[in-house]
Amino acid sequence: MSRLIHSPAWQALISHRDDMKSVHLADLFAQNPARAQQFSSTIAGLTVDYSKQRITKDTLTALQNLARAQGVLARRDAMFSGEKINTTEDRAVLHIALRNRSNRPIGVDGVDVMPEINAVLGQMRRFTDAVHEGRWLGYTCERITDVVNIGIGGSDLGPRMICDALASQALPSMNVHFVANIAPSDIANLLKTLDPARTLFVVASKTFTTQETLTNAHAARRWFLDAAGDDAFVAKHFVAVSTNHKAVAAFGIDTDNMFGFWDWVGGRYSLWSAIGLPIALYIGMNGFERLLEGAHGMDEHFRTANPEDNLPLILGLIDVWNASFFGASTLAVLPYGTRLGRLPAYLQQASMESNGKSVDLDGHRVDYTTGAVVWGGAGTNGQHAFYQLLHQGTQLIPADFIAAIRTHTPLGDQQAMLLSNLLAQTRALMLGRGLDAVVAEMQAAGLDEAVIARVAPHRVFLGNQPSTTILFPQMTPEAVGALVALYEHRIFVAGAIWHIDSYDQWGVELGKQMAGELLPAVGHAPVVGAFDASTEALLNTIYQHWV
Ligand code: F6P
Repeated sequence: MSRLIHSPAWQALISHRDDMKSVHLADLFAQNPARAQQFSSTIAGLTVDYSKQRITKDTLTALQNLARAQGVLARRDAMFSGEKINTTEDRAVLHIALRNRSNRPIGVDGVDVMPEINAVLGQMRRFTDAVHEGRWLGYTCERITDVVNIGIGGSDLGPRMICDALASQALPSMNVHFVANIAPSDIANLLKTLDPARTLFVVASKTFTTQETLTNAHAARRWFLDAAGDDAFVAKHFVAVSTNHKAVAAFGIDTDNMFGFWDWVGGRYSLWSAIGLPIALYIGMNGFERLLEGAHGMDEHFRTANPEDNLPLILGLIDVWNASFFGASTLAVLPYGTRLGRLPAYLQQASMESNGKSVDLDGHRVDYTTGAVVWGGAGTNGQHAFYQLLHQGTQLIPADFIAAIRTHTPLGDQQAMLLSNLLAQTRALMLGRGLDAVVAEMQAAGLDEAVIARVAPHRVFLGNQPSTTILFPQMTPEAVGALVALYEHRIFVAGAIWHIDSYDQWGVELGKQMAGELLPAVGHAPVVGAFDASTEALLNTIYQHWV
């Protein structure tokens, strides 16, 4: 048994979990009229209600004891002060510095990082202003109207999600597009819709070695040069965001048109850096800075609030409670409304690449459940698709329900309907509906007793499914910034409890390496004896159909 599982704090939670197993959320609400107030708070403009989680005051006390035993807040302080808490890569973890609007000095190896961060923000402002004011023109002296971000993973999902979320605040005549996949249709279909003279490509890659991104960027450059004809025009239409000057220059992008960031910004935590350039191009630099402000508000709360009031700490501990003690292997992220429809995909990388680990910081294989599978989709659509399993399946599936209260696009009763559906789902998941209530309802509807006996069990909802609800007044940059920062810190907390490195991602390497080995074998000749039998059979099927 690991030190963690063996610890008194963990053992206390196991016995508390055994007591809680038979407790129904509906009873907890019935017993405690103050429950909703007790287990909710409003921080940085977000109202977060976690009263529908399977917790009591004792649960939180026991979880806080575990946090103390695991040194979560000391690790938080280490992160905020620039210590190299990403030990397997020997790096600091400083996405919080990127939105440190207070400019409080933060040192890495004794050097304050804030001046460099502010210099890049200044460069972003100068560039985006020039584009928006028509001082940065394309090769035919036309204004830029379309921005194409070429990047993948953290160099794609964050800016893509934020641009969708804040689309109602887009500047007039600025369009933004995202190309990530190596599948040729991704870029080919987009380019068909664009005018090279008015298109700006942002090639975004922390390492500038990622196969998908560089291949797509080369395809974009060929397409552009087919129209523009002269290499000299590339500088007006291609900029790069990267930590790798040499590789950017080797690609042929003038490093004057490069926006830098640093190794202490993890890819999946990079939307706050120059990786957010497409956001600033789309909604303006002021909007981008408002996003940073929102995140900073949540950072300051996480950094300074008492443990009992500290929302990211509490939510991260509840994630551990659900995963490690109740065996919940997934977390459903259910934004209501389509603007945040890409949040589940964004959080998939943020959470799963961070906490999808099975070896702890001391190099030992863990014997407890770590990061959950994060998935989800926009409501109300999901209600007509996968919610059946949440309500009547056999698994415990914690869910986050998220919505802006007011919409930027009011239309009749639709926003009220959206919110009533969100509330109904959290309530139905929590309360359920017992057999007696089902039978009474069927009897009241005048149904035959035989039908009632046959069908009633299928109409029972056990309830007791945990959820957290996050509401905010409107989809503003500040609200979205605070929301994302809340999740980032929640992921941090869970990772700190599990004693894992939430900031490396070695698990993505093996597949990349094998893809490199397989590439020469795709479509060229029959393959015998080089790979395993299944892979060879599949390669040979590809070869037969290759044209
Ligand atoms: O393969 C995973 C990964 O390294 C992510 O962590 C990262 O966000 C993504 O690839 C893209 O990497 P880069 O920005 O270096 O192109």
